[in-house]
Amino acid sequence: MSRTTVGKISRSEPVERPLILPGLKTRTFGRTFHWYRKIDSTNRVAFDRAVEGGEEGEIFMAEAQTRGRGRVGKSWFSPPYMNLYLSLILRPKVAPEIVPGISLVAGVSVARVLQKLYPISALIKWPNDVLVNDKKLAGILCQTQAKGKTTEFVILGIGINLNVPHGRMPRFLQQTATSVFMETGNRCDRGEFVESLLASLERGYCLFQGRGLAPFLPFLRHRSWLTGKQIEVNSGTALIRGVARGISSTGSLLIDSGRGPLEELRSGTVQMIRKASHAFGH
Ligand code: BTN
Repeated sequence: MSRTTVGKISRSEPVERPLILPGLKTRTFGRTFHWYRKIDSTNRVAFDRAVEGGEEGEIFMAEAQTRGRGRVGKSWFSPPYMNLYLSLILRPKVAPEIVPGISLVAGVSVARVLQKLYPISALIKWPNDVLVNDKKLAGILCQTQAKGKTTEFVILGIGINLNVPHGRMPRFLQQTATSVFMETGNRCDRGEFVESLLASLERGYCLFQGRGLAPFLPFLRHRSWLTGKQIEVNSGTALIRGVARGISSTGSLLIDSGRGPLEELRSGTVQMIRKASHAFGH
């Protein structure tokens, strides 16, 4: 674990939250706050803490990650002092099969905050990417620990490219990723962003636990990047090709494979094959 220095404070970890987020207005999210100058992965440390009994709303935030985790075994580019790398312990009172909805809710929160603070209109690429002008600005990694039909905890990890300039991105990301700075030409205030994001996440999470995905569906459907595109989805057990037809009321991706009724996919990794498709006569 790295040593941290904030203002006059120097200690191993964590630092006091009011030093970093003085304007936080949440009830539980971020009230216990672990901050790291550098760590392997905030999801890793949050997971370990949750196993030891960490409470809902505990936040783990790092200035840099040495082994930031993405989905499907990918890594997450995490340069220091530019972006946002944040993980949150959640203990939702929902069954494990309902948990993927939390990724969608988090995506909606990220998009709403981008819209509120900047002139950025983001789209959601099901199940958990946030895209601006066809490039990825944020990614979400939800890790669930369940025992039978009971969800023990969820680690909600969010990575957002805030101030990284194009030239600091590795080549392989330059064509596919973007940041708030690249979209607006202005550096953003990361503290203000986190305060707004945590407030929005807390509101969204409470609403989700009470009413499920229903309140989020209009936004998700209106802002779905995949809809109308020809895609290939790896569900883990099968490869499905077809045209994305939107999001179901339970948060599944609807796919028209051209063979009978629409298929509903609860989780998977999506690759776009063509922008808009007329492949199946639609
Ligand atoms: C993806 O799009 O593949 C998900 C990326 C998630 C990255 C975030 S950064 C904070 C948290 N800690 C990690 O190691 N990963 C998530």
